[in-house]
Amino acid sequence: MSNPSLLILPGDGIGPEVMAEVVKIIDWFGVKRGIAFDVSTDLVGGCAYDKHGVPLHDDTMAKAQEVDAVLLGAVGGPAYDDLDFSVKPERGLLRLRKEMDLFANLRPAQCFDALADFSSLKKDIVAGLDIMIVRELTSGVYFGEPRGIFKEGNERVGINTQRYTESEIDRIARAAFELARKRGNKVCSMEKANVMESGILWREVVQKVHDEDYADVELSHMYADNGAMQLVRAPKQFDVIVTDNLFGDILSDCAAMLTGSLGMLPSASLGAPMANGRPKAMYEPVHGSAPDITGQGKANPIACILSFAMALRYSFDMGDEATRVEKAVEKVLADGLRTADLLGNDGETPISTTEMGDAIVAALDASL
Ligand code: IPM
Ligand code: MG
Repeated sequence: MSNPSLLILPGDGIGPEVMAEVVKIIDWFGVKRGIAFDVSTDLVGGCAYDKHGVPLHDDTMAKAQEVDAVLLGAVGGPAYDDLDFSVKPERGLLRLRKEMDLFANLRPAQCFDALADFSSLKKDIVAGLDIMIVRELTSGVYFGEPRGIFKEGNERVGINTQRYTESEIDRIARAAFELARKRGNKVCSMEKANVMESGILWREVVQKVHDEDYADVELSHMYADNGAMQLVRAPKQFDVIVTDNLFGDILSDCAAMLTGSLGMLPSASLGAPMANGRPKAMYEPVHGSAPDITGQGKANPIACILSFAMALRYSFDMGDEATRVEKAVEKVLADGLRTADLLGNDGETPISTTEMGDAIVAALDASL
């Protein structure tokens, strides 16, 4: 049997820096665990635009469809702010999500003990936090038609459309219930059924899927604005949160901050199973390209490394090896090692991106 295949798309900004640390981990698995991957690398985002005039070349898209998993760093940067909307770096990322039909975006927010003090919330509110946001990723207002900026009388109007079909809601609800069964067995579904028809349908379908096939899972519904409030008031009441594309985008940033830093949070975007039984999959940190710190060795590679751990778990059925990576990260943090984003202003010295990667590799060695 051939090795599992990975397509690495480091992207822009700090993407390449954090991805370089992930490559160290991938190499470690080849050498120390006999788990080798066939790795290829390509461009996405602004760097792809620079070379090809588009943020994702068709050949790259085709490669992404063929591999077992895509690992993505980050896209975007100020150099591309004035580009036409259709070729903005973000469009490359959205094309990957849409054409691979990666409808289930898993965004865990876990608070590492060593970082509980660092959250902007009180320690007892976040210590031990472990929630999973399941964000619908291929529909809703991100992709709904009509969209655009149109002329209406003597002024312009900007239009986007929130749109969900029953089958789109059905499949994301199932993904959330399946995950919940492997965790705390609780799902909270968030929408705005008080003001949006798409929210009314969302609530109905989630409830129906629950009653028909997942009655063993505890289900509640919440308006998304209340959800945002509850996330900062008492986040530990949640286990799995399932929500649409836009609310999921916002709520996951909010949940991320509970854990102390956006630099810590991984994500998995999963689609339907391929012929080999593995789901179509892309793994990426929740953080962006962070142009303000690019090239300074300040970026925290942990989110990207934990994204690779998610690949081990969800694409390659190597949950134990994923846990090994997560434990190595935990150990390094417990040892007090911190990149700049994980330090306050009291004069401690941060370690660099590469030092953090090396420390995690050393912790992996120690795990053998
Ligand atoms: C995210 C990001 C993206 C999104 C951007 C970069 C298009 O914010 O993955 O959360 O809005 O989905
Ligand atoms: Mg976002």
